[in-house]
Amino acid sequence: MQTIEPCQLLEWDSQFFGRNIGRVTEHRLEPQNMAAINVWCTDHLIDCLYFLADSDHADTIRLAEDNGFRLVDMRVTLQCRIADWQARAVNGRPSEGCVRPVIPSDVLTLQAIARKSHTDSRFYFDGCFSLERCGALYELWIKRSCEGHADHVLVAELNGQPVGYFSCHRQGAQGQVGLVGMSEEAHGKGMGQYLTHQAMQWFADQSVESVEVVTQGRNIAAQRLYQRCGFLVRSVQLWYHKWMPNCTSREI
Ligand SMILES: CC(C)(COP(=O)(O)OP(=O)(O)OC[C@H]1O[C@@H](n2cnc3c(N)ncnc32)[C@H](O)[C@@H]1OP(=O)(O)O)[C@@H](O)C(=O)NCCC(=O)NCCS
Repeated sequence: MQTIEPCQLLEWDSQFFGRNIGRVTEHRLEPQNMAAINVWCTDHLIDCLYFLADSDHADTIRLAEDNGFRLVDMRVTLQCRIADWQARAVNGRPSEGCVRPVIPSDVLTLQAIARKSHTDSRFYFDGCFSLERCGALYELWIKRSCEGHADHVLVAELNGQPVGYFSCHRQGAQGQVGLVGMSEEAHGKGMGQYLTHQAMQWFADQSVESVEVVTQGRNIAAQRLYQRCGFLVRSVQLWYHKWMPNCTSREI
């Protein structure tokens, strides 16, 4: 019988942050697998261990917090069925601006927006990853999305300039939102909502039946945006990070 490792090494994250980073395989903890996790971390010289916990399992939360894991994010997954979105029949085009597919000359501007936009994410909140690395992570993410990692990227344009992005992924009838961001000057003008509706139209055109998006519990702007467009909460999980030894400043 094949034994499942208690954790897995995250090679991409480890290389990007220059530290050994792993992730707990399961979403629940028991006292006996806590011991196995600690041994695995020692054997793999782990600096930082991520753990995505089921938020409704009290023993898991207690064990995580008693064993040095720090809460860094509430991961909120929202879902919208395309049929429900179509029944709402609103796409609220704002009085200014437009939405169009990305073109190669947008990429540098979108990278600059991404560098500043995702400060609610767990990497910033962790407090040990440097602001430079956090910004670089999202800069690289949007660049790769535009280069074909995403199935479709839409750009919001205001006064002839790109001001926001929305990346879409598709697997059969299931759609997944990738990265969404809007430059600060364009916030609160309804562009986010228009961009989301245009993305939902693209998903509908691809015969997608249901779309999921993940955001942070602390990100009220994003939650209101998706709720306005018909998304409902599907799950809430808790992201924990554990640093070994304990980390107290943005030194990574
Ligand atoms: C989330 C985001 C894309 C919204 O873009 P936007 O163009 O400002 O959105 P809209 O103008 O269409 O407004 C959509 C909703 O967000 C709300 N909103 C916008 N900025 C807000 C803020 N700073 N605080 C609280 N709500 C905010 C609006 O009030 C609106 O909700 P309402 O209709 O109930 O009032 C934008 O705030 C952003 O880029 N944030 C940083 C990146 C991010 O969080 N991306 C999503 C990660 S999943």
